[in-house]
Amino acid sequence: MDRFSVGRMPGPSLVQSAPACRPLTERSGEGLLDTGRKSLHRFVFGVSTVVFLAYFMREIVSPVAGIGVIILLLTAGCSESTDYAQPIAYNHATHIQEVGMECIDCHIQAETHQKASIPNIALCIECHEEALTESMEEEKLVTYIQEDQTIPWVQVHRVPDHAYFSHRRHVAMGKISCEQCHGQVTEMTLPFTKPAFQINMNFCIQCHKNNQVSTECADCHR
Ligand code: HEC
Ligand code: HEC
Ligand code: HEC
Ligand code: HEC
Ligand code: HEC
Repeated sequence: MDRFSVGRMPGPSLVQSAPACRPLTERSGEGLLDTGRKSLHRFVFGVSTVVFLAYFMREIVSPVAGIGVIILLLTAGCSESTDYAQPIAYNHATHIQEVGMECIDCHIQAETHQKASIPNIALCIECHEEALTESMEEEKLVTYIQEDQTIPWVQVHRVPDHAYFSHRRHVAMGKISCEQCHGQVTEMTLPFTKPAFQINMNFCIQCHKNNQVSTECADCHR
């Protein structure tokens, strides 16, 4: 029942709750920006298909099958959204906009190391040792904390071993904002299931050219 839990929170967060039937592919980065409109289209299309098929079955095939088709289509439409690719439906928007945290409060190595680092219970425990909300997602977090278990986040951005990428170089020395490479994270109400921008060689080279930074093969392939 994950998909309803965010909506159980009191207050303004209700508005940001996850729509019940939304495919996984839209649950991150850029996809979030216009899901409202897209899901309306999908909803209207879905409803007309159900009505048409049900009518067709009822009139032409058989009344019992008509009801069956309605039930089948309704459940099929929702089933794809029941599991998140991440263990907890973490919400960047609440922590940044409502709690007032900054990226490096959680991704504490972004200015100093190659890896930005993904926070885990050692950091979350500062505020979530006990539940602050009615959210089922937070309840999962509190359980991880109380059982001293690591949250098994799935890392979605990754360059292969033959390429070298350093956050410190880009964030601290290059003064490049997180958003330029990771999209509008501040607006994200659901966790990352895919990168906002596809990270391939062209993504790196384009920006290096625009900024007169080296595009020598050996600088990245070391
Ligand atoms: C500085 C305090 C603070 C830290 C650290 C913190 N949170 Fe929160 N978190 C909050 C507050 C406050 C709320 C309630 C926000 C609201 O109701 O508007 C919240 C709400 C939540 C919720 C439930 C509501 C929602 O927005 O989805 C989850 C899940 C959550 N946090 C996960 C995490 C995780 C995972 C970490 C560690 C990586 C973490 N939090 C670290 C303060 C914090
Ligand atoms: C110039 C582009 C760029 C910028 C700027 C950037 N990132 Fe990244 N980020 C990447 C790439 C590429 C990866 C994959 C790196 C890898 O495989 O080690 C990544 C991976 C990550 C990861 C997961 C792996 C890890 O390093 O722990 C996190 C978290 C992350 N970035 C957060 C941030 C934050 C927060 C900022 C801003 C402070 C930021 N990034 C700025 C390109 C960027
Ligand atoms: C309260 C802690 C917290 C804050 C503040 C925070 N993040 Fe995160 N971030 C997380 C957690 C937890 C995850 C893992 C779940 C997910 O993928 O959404 C994550 C995941 C990410 C990832 C995906 C890493 C990967 O490759 O899997 C990126 C990129 C990222 N955050 C960027 C940012 C940026 C940019 C900001 C500031 C605008 C920010 N984060 C602020 C906790 C935080
Ligand atoms: C949004 C722009 C941007 C993107 C995207 C970007 N870079 Fe960079 N990169 C820079 C800038 C600016 C610098 C110079 C930083 C400095 O002042 O040292 C830099 C420096 C570097 C350096 C050091 C170069 C040297 O002269 O030794 C390496 C290596 C590097 N980037 C690798 C990567 C890789 C790998 C990717 C893709 C995964 C990538 N960069 C994506 C802007 C970018
Ligand atoms: C700014 C960093 C950067 C520079 C400069 C760069 N590469 Fe890459 N290259 C990458 C990254 C990052 C990947 C991994 C892309 C992915 O995962 O899709 C990659 C992938 C590759 C691959 C694997 C196939 C592919 O396209 O994914 C080859 C081959 C390659 N690079 C050759 C070169 C050669 C030859 C040069 C010099 C002319 C060069 N690269 C310069 C960052 C760079």
